[in-house]
Amino acid sequence: MFDVSKFPKAETEWFTESRFGLFIHWGLYSMPARHEWIRNKEKISTADYQKYFDRFDPDLYDPVLWAKKAKAAGMKYFVITTKHHEGFCLWDSKYTDYKAPKTPAGRDLLKPMVDAFRNEGIKVGFYYSLIDWHHKDFTVDKHHPMRENEAERAKNKERNMKVYAEYMRNQVTELLTQFGKIDILWFDFSYPGEDGKGHMDWESEELYALIRKLQPGIMIDNRLDLEGTGDFITPEQFQPKEGYKDKNGKPLVWEACQTFSGSWGYFRDEYSWRDKTELITTLIDCVSKDGNLLINVGPTSRGEFDARALERLDAYAKWMHHHSRSIHGCASAPAEFACPQGCKLTYNPVKRRLYLHILSWPYKHIYLEGEAYKKLKYAQFLHDGSEVEFKGLEPWQMHFSDNRAVVDSSVITIPQVRPDVLIPVVEFFLD
Ligand code: GLC
Repeated sequence: MFDVSKFPKAETEWFTESRFGLFIHWGLYSMPARHEWIRNKEKISTADYQKYFDRFDPDLYDPVLWAKKAKAAGMKYFVITTKHHEGFCLWDSKYTDYKAPKTPAGRDLLKPMVDAFRNEGIKVGFYYSLIDWHHKDFTVDKHHPMRENEAERAKNKERNMKVYAEYMRNQVTELLTQFGKIDILWFDFSYPGEDGKGHMDWESEELYALIRKLQPGIMIDNRLDLEGTGDFITPEQFQPKEGYKDKNGKPLVWEACQTFSGSWGYFRDEYSWRDKTELITTLIDCVSKDGNLLINVGPTSRGEFDARALERLDAYAKWMHHHSRSIHGCASAPAEFACPQGCKLTYNPVKRRLYLHILSWPYKHIYLEGEAYKKLKYAQFLHDGSEVEFKGLEPWQMHFSDNRAVVDSSVITIPQVRPDVLIPVVEFFLD
């Protein structure tokens, strides 16, 4: 088995404190604008896909604006697709001509992005696709656009995955030596087994060793198909029922990656865009289970976030303006605090504050059951810093309560009218 213990450990503390990042999927697929897997779905040959490469010209691209949007939304890191499955590279790689500088864009698109985000104090993650439907040595397999093309299948004999694995190491070396400190490397993805690919094809062991040599503390995801590796777990397009734990019950680092609408790349005619309250709930849900959220934007081929994405980023920004305290530096609440119905809890262990996110507005009182809640000293709303009173039922109301749990609980009284924020939060002080 691969011995991961002989390598330096990844730095993960900044990551679990950050809790919130921006995923960006940007490539040639933003032109057809009907999913980043379009080559696979429509079985498009390299030759037929060339029309996008020849016309890719993001004239409105302004990474400074992107970075400002991310910062305003409370995101502390971003992950950009330096190369997606289509094989197109955003930077000026010397190992391929299939790159932005050779399109009408005429320049390296990655460098200015990295600079812009860093200037906003946002950490940098690189997504790098293990899959490459453009590279001449990448064999046709079950996910390949040419999977049903017998002639292309036959050519696999002339293809050499060893050459491709070396190409990846060369490119990863560029990415880890020409852009300063990189905080995350996000590989995507392995599908070992029949007609698939895994660590033997990627030569993951060598790749891993190379990365740890170039940037020892970098975080590497869990998609290299290499047992023992994976500095974070990457649930995708679902929210886990609970957080991930190791054998001893210690929380493991994880990050859910989610989309606003379903696809990762810009998809013009997709209308399944998520509701803003749900998107904020998803962020809270991650933190309440000791996880992070990486939410995705697929910029247009002219280089902009479209109106639907902006609307949602702005909703995060507006909510985070008041509520980032319940997200950044927070984790799951100690088990002794039972979560009241219709709510989600997070906790800041350094500040010793508990955050109650009220997802559905109840009738006047919230019952906080259990002894632990008796330790709370003060409560206030985050959106306006106004006190929330620990006030139980009125004596006359008690006549009508024969429910012991209600009588014995700590109780807070909330205003009759729900505050005008997408999800109101009560901040409890333990000291
Ligand atoms: C998937 C898809 C892909 C996307 C990724 C993000 O594995 O292949 O298109 O980039 O998920 O997690």
